[in-house]
Amino acid sequence: MEAGSALDRTPLKGFKDFYQYAGSTRVIAGRNLLESTGFEFQKEGARRVFMVTDGVIRGTGLVERVEAGVTDGGLELAGIFDDVPQDSSTEVCDRCAAAAKEAGADSFLAVGGGSVMDTAKVADAVFTHGGDARDQEGFFLMPRADDGMGRPLEIAPLACIPTTAGTGSEVSMAAVIKVPDEKVKIEIADFPLFPRLAILDPDSTRTLPQAVAAATGMDAMTHAIEGYVSVDWSPHQDARSLQALRMIRDNLERAVQRGEEDEEARGNMLIAANLAITIALGSVHAMSHPAGAQFGVPHGVANAIHLPHVIRHNAQGSPDIADRYRDIGEVFDVTERDIGDALADHLTELIGRLGLPTRLSQVGVPEDGIPALVEGATGDGTTLLNPREMSEEDYAELYRRAL
Ligand SMILES: [Fe+2]
Repeated sequence: MEAGSALDRTPLKGFKDFYQYAGSTRVIAGRNLLESTGFEFQKEGARRVFMVTDGVIRGTGLVERVEAGVTDGGLELAGIFDDVPQDSSTEVCDRCAAAAKEAGADSFLAVGGGSVMDTAKVADAVFTHGGDARDQEGFFLMPRADDGMGRPLEIAPLACIPTTAGTGSEVSMAAVIKVPDEKVKIEIADFPLFPRLAILDPDSTRTLPQAVAAATGMDAMTHAIEGYVSVDWSPHQDARSLQALRMIRDNLERAVQRGEEDEEARGNMLIAANLAITIALGSVHAMSHPAGAQFGVPHGVANAIHLPHVIRHNAQGSPDIADRYRDIGEVFDVTERDIGDALADHLTELIGRLGLPTRLSQVGVPEDGIPALVEGATGDGTTLLNPREMSEEDYAELYRRAL
């Protein structure tokens, strides 16, 4: 066994000394749910709804359908913010919060992908507690009762209708947002950020372009795999990760290739993305965050590129790590002894069939960008959760292999 293996850090099996698990979002899933948006959101305390979305979604007609669903349920639409870019920033969140205040809103409804939902979460925190988006950074640092020792203070009701499958942000307590001047992505996570309601209706991914369905599906795949091998694993999340992987195995290619005509595959991918999401991630996300912040590589594309390389590297870290990948391999019928290589090969083939890039050089990352990426990955919070300890040299080597 190599020095610095995960066995020295934390066991990946047995009874853990500690973990916590929470998931407080009410999820409704099924067909024709958009029309009940208002009816359902009213039960979460919403009256004057501020919708957050982006220009592309606004052009699809989905916003009008959701708007009708809001008003049919007896709620008012206080305003719409449709200016969220593909990779949202602290500046956008601050503008969104100010617009919601100006509109006299009392609740937020995100209709979009990860960037839209994360913007709504951070804007909601700023809207409720004041300050600005940059101040929100950190894990479990939101205001609490009893001089900061008690229950976290709630933020305004937030509902999410994801239009990708996906980031799973609609059922997570985390948001990742870019700080433009600093070229970094900051993470914000605390219990109040769990949306109160997530509406999973395959109608909302009907017009999703193939390339986006592929990339966001690989983000869900990465959450399921990283969550299962993370040092922050738990039996609760294991159950979710493995079922997510089965559903992704059965539905991702169908959803990407048949798109509009395969409602079942699209619906199942929305649910799989929900099951997969966790904040217990690892080095794939650590490598992808700086690739997004520094070179604008879309999050799911970056994960698809990095995932096979991290699996190969991690699986050699210890027999226990390899065993965890073996469980994942079973889902895909990959049972070779050298599980790291076999699973990585299997996924690389799948990523190719999905039509996604497999190298960083294909998506605008130059070789001389590697040192800054290494610095970003080393400093990323998810590095600490990777099952194998990662040095700067390890990251430099993995980026070179991915180039
Ligand atoms: Fe992700």
